[in-house]
Amino acid sequence: MARRQIIIDTDPGQDDAVAILLALASPELEVLGITCVAGNVPLELTAKNARIVCELAGRTDIRVFAGCEKPIARKLVTAEHVHGKTGLDGITLPDPTMPVQDQHAVDFIIETLRSEPEGSVTLVPIGPLTNIATALERAPDIAPRVAEIVLMGGAYFEVGNITPTAEFNIYVDPEAAKIVYGAGIPLVMMPLDVTHKALTTRERVEAFRALPGKVGPAVASWTEFFERFDKEKYGSLGAPLHDPLTIAWLLRPDLFAGRHINVEIETGSDLTLGMTVADWWRVTDRAANATFVKDLDADAFFALLTERLARL
Ligand code: RIB
Ligand code: CA
Repeated sequence: MARRQIIIDTDPGQDDAVAILLALASPELEVLGITCVAGNVPLELTAKNARIVCELAGRTDIRVFAGCEKPIARKLVTAEHVHGKTGLDGITLPDPTMPVQDQHAVDFIIETLRSEPEGSVTLVPIGPLTNIATALERAPDIAPRVAEIVLMGGAYFEVGNITPTAEFNIYVDPEAAKIVYGAGIPLVMMPLDVTHKALTTRERVEAFRALPGKVGPAVASWTEFFERFDKEKYGSLGAPLHDPLTIAWLLRPDLFAGRHINVEIETGSDLTLGMTVADWWRVTDRAANATFVKDLDADAFFALLTERLARL
């Protein structure tokens, strides 16, 4: 079976951690590298947390790269109120001993896309899009070489989680998002509209906790910490597992439903900065540039996730 080559671009964050674990547990995927970006917490912590997760999975072979420490054109906005001071609050795991790579994440992304066969590498951004946009700006030749971008970000019917109109990943670096959505690369987005349907209910968390080994209990502890923000704000039944949906799409796209439509990024208005304006009803003649995923089979997703985590 040909393994799908991916680069995960991430700002761990508990849900990023679950996405990384799902990818490392899935033989269908080859993780060429994990590139870290400032987002949920500052870069120094996201680069540390990515290595903590790799060591939890027993995968010290994975190369972890540090990338951009601030958005392209704005001050960094972080989300400790959701993820805690460390970004991985909920359980204390040992500091990593595996090194972060010397090469900058953006240079790794460019070099990998130039050296791997055209159309063979998928980018999976699950944080602000600063690294991806910087790579595209610095090396426009890589755009046609990207197989697909499968990202977590945006919102439309579900509206915003950091402002009334914007989702966090897009809001932190809207200029970067505008570059990525305008690059002409096949793009699949997992917005809040679908991630808010992937909730870690009590039963699902207990299934994680009952898994053998350390990974399941760690994921249960992370989600129990991470869920308090959404429970208070939305009264939801658990934490929306945003980022792992990107990996689940790569494994089982049949679990999802959406539309290929035009999505534009607001960068000019303070009131709606970072909004993903989705032309769901195709009322404009703007060209479709993204598959906006709106629904999933949540039970099948959690069954897949739990089965894969049990393998670590
Ligand atoms: O809005 C949810 C997104 O913001 C997720 O990627 C979460 O990890 C945070 O980065
Ligand atoms: Ca994230």
